[in-house]
Amino acid sequence: MKQALVLLLILALAAPLAAANNNNNNDAQATPTYYGDVQSILEQECQVCHRPNGANLGGMVAPMAFTSYKETRPWARSIARQVESGLMPPWHAAPRHAGTFVNERSLTEEQKATLIAWAKGGAPMGNAADAPPAKVWKRSDGWTIGEPDLIMDMGQDFFVEDDVEDQYVDFETVITKEMLPEPRWIKAVEFRPGSPAVHHIIARPFGGIAPGNDPTVYHDGFGTLVKPGATIRWNMHYHKEPGPGTGSWDRSSVALRFYPKDYRPDYVMQTKSMAKFDFEIPPGDPNYVATTTAKFDRDSLLLGYTPHMHLRGKSARYVAKYPDGTEEVLLDVPRYDFDWQTHYKYPVGGKRIPAGTEVELTMAWDNSADNPANPDPTATVVYGGPTTAEMMFGFVAFADAEPGYDPSNTGFLSQQGSSQEDFEKRIEERFGVDWDSLSEEERGQLFRRMRREQRRDGGEGTVSGGE
Ligand code: HEC
Repeated sequence: MKQALVLLLILALAAPLAAANNNNNNDAQATPTYYGDVQSILEQECQVCHRPNGANLGGMVAPMAFTSYKETRPWARSIARQVESGLMPPWHAAPRHAGTFVNERSLTEEQKATLIAWAKGGAPMGNAADAPPAKVWKRSDGWTIGEPDLIMDMGQDFFVEDDVEDQYVDFETVITKEMLPEPRWIKAVEFRPGSPAVHHIIARPFGGIAPGNDPTVYHDGFGTLVKPGATIRWNMHYHKEPGPGTGSWDRSSVALRFYPKDYRPDYVMQTKSMAKFDFEIPPGDPNYVATTTAKFDRDSLLLGYTPHMHLRGKSARYVAKYPDGTEEVLLDVPRYDFDWQTHYKYPVGGKRIPAGTEVELTMAWDNSADNPANPDPTATVVYGGPTTAEMMFGFVAFADAEPGYDPSNTGFLSQQGSSQEDFEKRIEERFGVDWDSLSEEERGQLFRRMRREQRRDGGEGTVSGGE
């Protein structure tokens, strides 16, 4: 180990000398310039977010643009720091997955070195004639899915009061025949938060977003159907620092793009969650681990994953256990970051798995004082809505592998069905009801009441252990 370090040091010291020798007669190559080297990297890897009106990923909007030398120059040192530490571009899958997911955001070692050397070398401008014309981004009013076919909002303006820290509000809207004359297959979905206090939007059946989510664009041939008359159930979560003047109005929206009329995609896209509700994270525990599994009872195409935990979330791992006994790590997120609720998406066609495959989800939380995001290391933390309580959801997007198959018979069996069922059982015990005989609406009400009680009992969204 020591020897390796010494060797590295020698190499590190020697490298600049070697470089200087090589570049004796070509000084320009020694320090990259904005126009010569940096602009093209920014265009490819950063401007999707860092531009005026850039991508709004569920409320995460890059606060500065890097679309000109003038805009970028003041950030040079910060860029070097962010790139060196791996914080930018934001991407949290383990390096082993390089090349696996289509929406991967990462720099090659060469791109990294160029940005760092540029900053360290004084961030020179270079000669505009060295660069192709700057990339022109289509103005789409911030919609990254292109011109939407249908935009719907939550139906009313809602004021998030000054004293709110966490608040959950439900709205219902209906897709009228005027808005949507006939059923259509959805090609893409994008959410637009209407206030900086929006922490997440869930709008069933369109899924939802949380900070850092990309909009959903289905691969050609994959889609979900939306019909006139459908009810959209909005579940809004607002989260902010409370205080005078922090209140704001919200009217969040969702935009849809459709496939051409009369087109039916071969594969109906489904999203299900592997979830657990009955975990209990002890105070101070630096590595509390929970697992849950789901089984696929038909050949399926895995399309992507979205791990979801809250502030104490530490790592997430999806492992496939195939019927032949072999295992494969599907997704490893070693340093989960709550601010970036990434959907890890496969290229066209997804990843085919045989019937009988079991997927095991393992998540870990850091409830110690060493976790800078931890709101309260002395709390026993259980399932709950607020970011100060925890969640364990491993969303899986998939389709049946057989083209044209109607998936209303599910191709996904929650094996440890106990997780969801346990929560239902707790509701039955708490309210003295029979879950199976409840209407969908009553279930929702009791589920929310249970969550409200958990939140109230815990004050800050935590429940003391033991009960
Ligand atoms: C997916 C969108 C996205 C991409 C791609 C992206 N950024 Fe960012 N960047 C952000 C957001 C959002 C923030 C603000 C972070 C926050 O508020 O915590 C940010 C912040 C930054 C900051 C400021 C950090 C600070 O607080 O000082 C720098 C510097 C930066 N990004 C550099 C880059 C560079 C360089 C690239 C490309 C190699 C890049 N980013 C790619 C979204 C992005």
